[in-house]
Amino acid sequence: MATAYQRAIVVGASSGIGEAFARQLAGRGAHVALVARRQPELERVAGEIRRVGGRAEVFPHDVVGFDATPALFDQIVAKLGGLDIIVYASGVLHDIAENEWNFALDRETIEVNLIGAMAWLNLAGARFQAQGSGTIFGISSIAGERGRRANSAYGTSKAALTAYLESVRNRLTRYGVHVVTVKPGFIDTPMIKGRPVFWVISADTAARRSLAFADRGGQSVFVPARWGLVALILKLIPSFVFRRLNF
Ligand SMILES: NC(=O)c1ccc[n+]([C@@H]2O[C@H](COP(=O)([O-])OP(=O)(O)OC[C@H]3O[C@@H](n4cnc5c(N)ncnc54)[C@H](OP(=O)(O)O)[C@@H]3O)[C@@H](O)[C@H]2O)c1
Repeated sequence: MATAYQRAIVVGASSGIGEAFARQLAGRGAHVALVARRQPELERVAGEIRRVGGRAEVFPHDVVGFDATPALFDQIVAKLGGLDIIVYASGVLHDIAENEWNFALDRETIEVNLIGAMAWLNLAGARFQAQGSGTIFGISSIAGERGRRANSAYGTSKAALTAYLESVRNRLTRYGVHVVTVKPGFIDTPMIKGRPVFWVISADTAARRSLAFADRGGQSVFVPARWGLVALILKLIPSFVFRRLNF
């Protein structure tokens, strides 16, 4: 049965997977706080949610503004009258050339994809631990399963995010808190526009499958599921072979 969350925060709700989560949580009856940098996009998503009878509020925010996160979190929780679920979907993926060693882009990738998640989810974790309930979704990636040649910082950010979410789950399960790691393959969003991709599914399908997985009590899911098999094979490839591969 679909879990009816009442009060939700979606960080990274202005586009793609976060937007799809926001719509579907609103469709399940949640009052949703939409967080990301681009206010016009957040207003568009909120307008579309309201047009079909849902409730949504807009909170423009850059996740690397870590000092502002606690006050914004408190402001949102006060506005919603509590919190039942948080989804952290903010992320960046930069194209890094073979001979490019770009610390500025690597740093942004780690700050948005990992540190921003910790800034938001630590606050949610503390609140959920105290209230003895709550659900945390983190959008990680198949890219975190091995250290590939391509996109070192992106893969690193996702490997660390996966480990962080597992640790948070291990801390909070005994307090009645549900922590779900989503590891997408390729999802049809602006992030992968123009890239050579396959087995692509829509953001709506990814969000729907992830929420349905959580409804069944699941904790870590590949979307689509066949990426789980790919991950298994990737992990079995010995390092001396893996370093000769070109992906
Ligand atoms: N698409 C895929 O194939 C795929 C595969 C595996 C994992 N993922 C992961 O899924 C998540 C969502 O990505 P997507 O595919 O939906 O891409 P997307 O459509 O580009 O969405 C990225 C979201 O992150 C937000 N964001 C980026 N930088 C931010 C910042 N500094 N502060 C606040 N928000 C920021 C963007 O909002 P603003 O620009 O408005 O701030 C946007 O809402 C990411 O973590 C991505 O790594 C995607």
